Amino acid sequence: TNSLTVNNKGHLTIGGLDSIMLAEKYGTPLFVYDVEKIRNNARAFVSTFAKHGVKAQVAYASKAFSSVAMVQVAKQEKLSLDVVSQGELYTALQAGFPVDKIHFHGNNKSLEELEMAVNAEIGCIVIDNFYEIDLLAAVLEEKQTTMDVLIRVTPGIEAHTHDYILTGNEDSKFGFDLSNGQAAEALEKISANDSINLKGLHCHIGSQIFETDGFTMAVERLFKIMSEWKDLFQFKAEILNLGGGFGIKYTDEDKPLPLDRYVEALISEVSKQAEVYDLEFPEIWIEPGRSIVGDTATTLYTVGSTKDIPNVRKYVAVDGGMTDNLRPALYQAKYDAVIANKVNQRIEEKVSIAGKCCESGDMLIWDIDLPEVEANDILAVFSTGAYGYSMSNHYNRFPKAAVVFVENGKDKLVIKRETYEDVIQNDLTYEEE
Ligand code: LLP
Repeated sequence: TNSLTVNNKGHLTIGGLDSIMLAEKYGTPLFVYDVEKIRNNARAFVSTFAKHGVKAQVAYASKAFSSVAMVQVAKQEKLSLDVVSQGELYTALQAGFPVDKIHFHGNNKSLEELEMAVNAEIGCIVIDNFYEIDLLAAVLEEKQTTMDVLIRVTPGIEAHTHDYILTGNEDSKFGFDLSNGQAAEALEKISANDSINLKGLHCHIGSQIFETDGFTMAVERLFKIMSEWKDLFQFKAEILNLGGGFGIKYTDEDKPLPLDRYVEALISEVSKQAEVYDLEFPEIWIEPGRSIVGDTATTLYTVGSTKDIPNVRKYVAVDGGMTDNLRPALYQAKYDAVIANKVNQRIEEKVSIAGKCCESGDMLIWDIDLPEVEANDILAVFSTGAYGYSMSNHYNRFPKAAVVFVENGKDKLVIKRETYEDVIQNDLTYEEE
């Protein structure tokens, strides 16, 4: 478990605050983010580039957790911001994020989204497909303005956490294929348009990656193509965006590298390849999402019913589940937890943590060792900061959970718990009133 801290009542503390107090004050399920940890994660990336004097942008991938407060922390930490939708862009703009440091992603950006991005004068659009080139060209023509872009390419490396699959012909819905010439075709098409300024290349090889090899392989491939394109098209990449995907620890099975190690590996591979191909050292951009916020939040739940099936299993149900954390149901993701009001108590039983939804697959944790669990205990599930709240949903019409930030011994509500009014706010009646 991630460096647990416990107070004299035997309660788990988060950022120095008593988790049981927080659960009582805000109710459960509750996401509690330790903001100092967010800052430390961000700084690990930023300071490593700075240490090497490498010009870089660390763009927080806001899909991992987007909210006005979170975007403001990213702004305070001088991060850039990766958005993938109008909703995330809207959040960024409402939060007052510097527009020139916003990058827009997505495999099916709509005309409306591109118009919003162009109107807001965001820093960069990462071009994903041919259709988007035409749409963007039309928007820029209409508004008589220009936009900086990167081309997203699929380098043929797919990371599956521990191993990498090299695919000649990448089968992915994202980006332009390098092997079949489509990427080069995109480059020619973009270069022919004076309002689209091509700044460089982008790739993203996967998520929750624990080694550096996949990233260095990607750098190698990108340099190879940059070198070919230099000869063929006089192309020069000012920017190389290597995406996100840096792994974090959910349970003791996960052995991530310290964040600075990923950056060190990228910098040294880029230097190496720049020399090999006699190309200029580009500005390096990365897009960490999970590794900025994943290990910074804990979800607090209240225990309700239990079902003991002798010699089989004991189910312990909590007041949330796949509505606030879809990852176990969707990816068989594993999490670690403690009973927050019994942190110092002896481990007594192996139980499985069930969610509240009408769905057998709504299980948060299978087979976890805990002290004796009783109704009204508070279960604290760790490392829920990424793709937890952001993937939360209204299945069974459960209102969305609340989110609290803690820092410097203070707690601050940053997303209100939804009410039932909120849940039905868009419903219209079908009966005459
Ligand atoms: N950049 C691009 C282009 C991406 O597609 C992603 C994630 C990221 C950056 C950030 O990756 P990260 O550093 O967070 O690994 N819902 C899944 C993860 C989906 C990731 C999608 N793309 C999960 O809960 O594991």
